[in-house]
Amino acid sequence: MGKVHITWHGHACFNIDMGKQIVTDPFIEHNPVALIRKEDLKADIVVVTHGHSDHVADALYIASRNHAPIVTIVELAWLLQDKDHSVKIHDINFSGSVDVSGIKITAVPALHSSSFEEKYAGNPGGMIISNGKTTIYHAGDTGVFSDMKLIGDLYKPDIAMLPIGGHYTMGPEEAIEAIKMIKPKIVIPMHYNTFDMIKQDANLFKKNAEERTNSKVQIMEIEKVKEFDFE
Ligand code: NI
Ligand code: MN
Repeated sequence: MGKVHITWHGHACFNIDMGKQIVTDPFIEHNPVALIRKEDLKADIVVVTHGHSDHVADALYIASRNHAPIVTIVELAWLLQDKDHSVKIHDINFSGSVDVSGIKITAVPALHSSSFEEKYAGNPGGMIISNGKTTIYHAGDTGVFSDMKLIGDLYKPDIAMLPIGGHYTMGPEEAIEAIKMIKPKIVIPMHYNTFDMIKQDANLFKKNAEERTNSKVQIMEIEKVKEFDFE
């Protein structure tokens, strides 16, 4: 079955249903655009790209409540484990993978920073998430960098979730350069319109990206489930 179902909860937080329920970068309670309650999020695996609060805020709560492991970068794993010894935390680093219940998660670099509660939290990452049929690249918070070509060549993601908000990450123009290197079938824009500082016109991004690359842009509506089928 090559079908995956994706729901956007706003910002960089998605639910990816690929046999297992994967929740990325949970930021719900203090997310001004979130429509779901953190109590209602179901997860088998929680994936966290870096330590900034708009990515990790509700990670321990959701992992603990759902008895789900967290997958993240080594130093952030230590800091989270310190706060809750009962949650299983898989620590990986760049090019390293872990298999959790048949889902392979691989850490890749991101051009950004990472801290957690004013402590250094190692390097920020992106995550490659695959069930063996469909591969998704969640880029985390990142600027554009030329090794995105390597990420595209090596992992051949069907879907790339890319920040387009600017200010803290790539904006639309940088994201279009990223798409040219990654060459995903589908691009899902994220990390925009959560706050005024990262306001963007997603429709204009879609128009420009589809004119200038071979990828399709899927604009997500918060809490509207979208099915993708690559077979
Ligand atoms: Ni960040
Ligand atoms: Mn962020």
